[in-house]
Amino acid sequence: MENQYYYYLTIFFVLIFYKYFFNPRRNNLPPSPLAFPIIGHLYLLKNKPLLTLTSLSAKYGPVLYLRYGSMPVLIVSSPSTVEECFTKNDIIFANRSRTMAGDQLTFNYTAYFWAPYGQLWRSLRRLTVMELLSSNSLQKTSNIRDEEVVNFTRSLFKFCNGRSRNVDLTNWICTFSFNLVNKIVAGTHLVSEEDAGMEKGIAMIERLKGIFFVDIPVLNMCDFLPFLRWIGYKGMEKKMSLVHNQRNEFLDNLLEEFRQEKVNVGNRVKQNTLIETLLSLQESEPEFYTEDVIKSIMLVIFVTGTDTTSTTIQWAMRLVLAHPEALHKLRAEIDIQVGNTRLLNESDLTKLPYLHSVINETLRLYPTVPLLLPHYSTEDCTVGGYHVPKHTILLVNAWAIQRDPEVWKDPNEFKPERFEAIEGGKEGVNYKFIPFGMGRRSCPGAGMATRAISLALGSLIQCFDWQSVGKENLALSYNSRIKIQKNKSLEAICSPRSNFVQLLSQL
Ligand code: HEM
Repeated sequence: MENQYYYYLTIFFVLIFYKYFFNPRRNNLPPSPLAFPIIGHLYLLKNKPLLTLTSLSAKYGPVLYLRYGSMPVLIVSSPSTVEECFTKNDIIFANRSRTMAGDQLTFNYTAYFWAPYGQLWRSLRRLTVMELLSSNSLQKTSNIRDEEVVNFTRSLFKFCNGRSRNVDLTNWICTFSFNLVNKIVAGTHLVSEEDAGMEKGIAMIERLKGIFFVDIPVLNMCDFLPFLRWIGYKGMEKKMSLVHNQRNEFLDNLLEEFRQEKVNVGNRVKQNTLIETLLSLQESEPEFYTEDVIKSIMLVIFVTGTDTTSTTIQWAMRLVLAHPEALHKLRAEIDIQVGNTRLLNESDLTKLPYLHSVINETLRLYPTVPLLLPHYSTEDCTVGGYHVPKHTILLVNAWAIQRDPEVWKDPNEFKPERFEAIEGGKEGVNYKFIPFGMGRRSCPGAGMATRAISLALGSLIQCFDWQSVGKENLALSYNSRIKIQKNKSLEAICSPRSNFVQLLSQL
């Protein structure tokens, strides 16, 4: 009996030894720095994870393999490896992992940016693309965006009251983004025109930012070292549950207001809104469109459609304020193509290539989702000739690729012209310019985002003169989480352009 025990024990150790030292697949894992037992490579990521990952990739190559506690993580940082991940391995990496943020904040993974790859994800993505984000539906909602730009410009003009005024652009731009998304979802404004820029409007935007722009990482220590979750690491879970409750309450109120109005005013209220569509789908397919699924779709649009868009508009304004020659060139383009007798609108955008280049260059330098969203592999595969086991998290370092001197000339300089010069249009930047991701999980809102950003930025430049307040340190404004630092609003002095006063006062 005792002999048998030793026999099994020896086999067990031989297998472990084989798995870790002789397994040919393991030996073909991508390069990796020294790992510690239990924590793996977490010790490397204490500060500034993005910059650390970027310098590790510079040292070990564009396919890097780390272990965050118990989780294997693959980090790719070159156009060819991105291409491999999102062409031949696209389905394998089309999943998202289950995480604490996913458990707490996604209505049980029905919020489809975090949903597992499968039927539910497919149905919800198809629905929002068809109803909201396809070229056809974007065409149908172009009047909403045009109207929002008129409201935005008119409020800012009134706020200036005929003189130069210091404005908190961060707050104004967030007001524009929240109002636009709410108009599309529910047909109403969250901040009224009279309140915009005033104490009440500012407080409202701060409250909304507290609900939707929260600083919760999509992956956190508790995902890598699950025992931390049991002991309540840094109150993370409580914070997430609080945020979820606030979002839930916000969405409940929107739905309730909508239903109430329908009862009061009848069937013809606020047609062509997302809520209207969702509620009629609920009537025809109640088993699928449960209350949670409806809220999760609204949540996806609020979470993905407000923060990224407003952050990009702010970066673009920061950059053109810091580069007056770009501001003048942009304004000249708008003046020639649109003139000063009307406000720029969506039908002008195709005639404004420099505006488009400024936005692309902003997204190249300051991608709002610099590591994209984490993907998760469901099968073994190879990337860059290395073996990648299934159940590996994939992070794509878009930040590093978009600033790689091997890929871009003068990568840290703001030169929108580079996009004008790229031959082959979109094809010319494939896999080296990836602010919206690639493959089947890429951002379906890119078209809507580009239109909203172009309109907001274009009208700010068309109608107003701008002066920086002090010298912005662009590098310092970008922190390791790659959000504009929370308490660092963008301020600038704004005055209506003299040849636009008449137009603006008639809006
Ligand atoms: C500047 C603006 C935006 C940027 C830079 C951006 C970027 C991204 C990125 C990098 C991803 C992850 C891609 C991946 O996992 O590989 C993503 C996903 C997503 N974005 Fe955007 N986004 C923006 C605006 C929007 C807007 C306006 C909407 C919709 C209203 C939207 C909806 C989504 C959705 C639903 C997903 C999840 C897709 C999925 O998992 O299937 N985004 N976005």
